[in-house]
Amino acid sequence: MNQPVNSPQMKHLVSMRDVTKEDMLSLIDLASRIEAGQIKPDLSGKLGALLFFEPSTRTYFSFDTAIKRLGGNTLAMTGSGSTSVKKGESLADTLMTVRQYADFIVMRHKIEGAARFASEILDIPVINAGDGTNQHPTQAMLDLYSIHKTQGTLENLTVAMIGDLRLGRTVHSLAQALSDFNPKFYFASPRHLQMPKYIKDELKNKGVDFEEVEDIKPIIPHLDIMYVTRIQKERFAVLEDYEKVKDAYIITPEVLENVKENFRLMHPLPRVNEITVEVDKMPYAYYFRQARNGVVMRQAIIAKLLNLDVN
Ligand code: CP
Repeated sequence: MNQPVNSPQMKHLVSMRDVTKEDMLSLIDLASRIEAGQIKPDLSGKLGALLFFEPSTRTYFSFDTAIKRLGGNTLAMTGSGSTSVKKGESLADTLMTVRQYADFIVMRHKIEGAARFASEILDIPVINAGDGTNQHPTQAMLDLYSIHKTQGTLENLTVAMIGDLRLGRTVHSLAQALSDFNPKFYFASPRHLQMPKYIKDELKNKGVDFEEVEDIKPIIPHLDIMYVTRIQKERFAVLEDYEKVKDAYIITPEVLENVKENFRLMHPLPRVNEITVEVDKMPYAYYFRQARNGVVMRQAIIAKLLNLDVN
């Protein structure tokens, strides 16, 4: 694609709302050049702080891998149990302290806006690794990279987002990201877990074509991408409410009988039972390769935010 990689400098990555189409394309270009071995940004001597106040497998390990493979190092907090947060230290004081050691911060927190807060009080790059039900922008960027790799373009695609669209932050970030590429969206979810109004309003304002559906069978032959998400059990106040909706959509090989050849099934993972393991063997199943793509995309994000040499 050969997009310029040095558009006006991004200082933080907090929300996809802050990321221009030009930035998205330049990050995809950068990630693809890193993956092809054409460049290896040099992160030696730099320390990234991985502050994970919420559990993570993919985001944590792929950032750790990304940083170390570029020659950098990490200091890590997984859960707050072993830090002075346990003694009552505020988030601000924790961040200001970590800033004394680290060159950039990758933070996951259960509170919406926590990463924005960090970006406002710190003078080093802050990367949002997920803030409550709000945003997961590095996931959206690796999703865009995965879609571009499998479809050869981001433009004019038909994309279904299925599952917990209210509490699942990945679909908020991805819907905003794809909205710059003239998509047709189908949103399928249990009634109380629909895409939030503020996201739908943003899409309407940008003239994006979207439809909310309950039955996914009629739309399947039209899809380029199906993006399935887990029902976010840990964010339900009442467990019985979760039990009522947990199996609303289960993707099996039979569900995917009439898909297009270029169709790909994506999921940010972890899955519970919304995609059966029998689907894993199908050529359409892309979710583990999607997770793999997270390493090079996160390397690209770090390189851009730290203004590393990428020529
Ligand atoms: N996709 C994702 O955010 O996975 P983790 O919660 O395991 O990081």
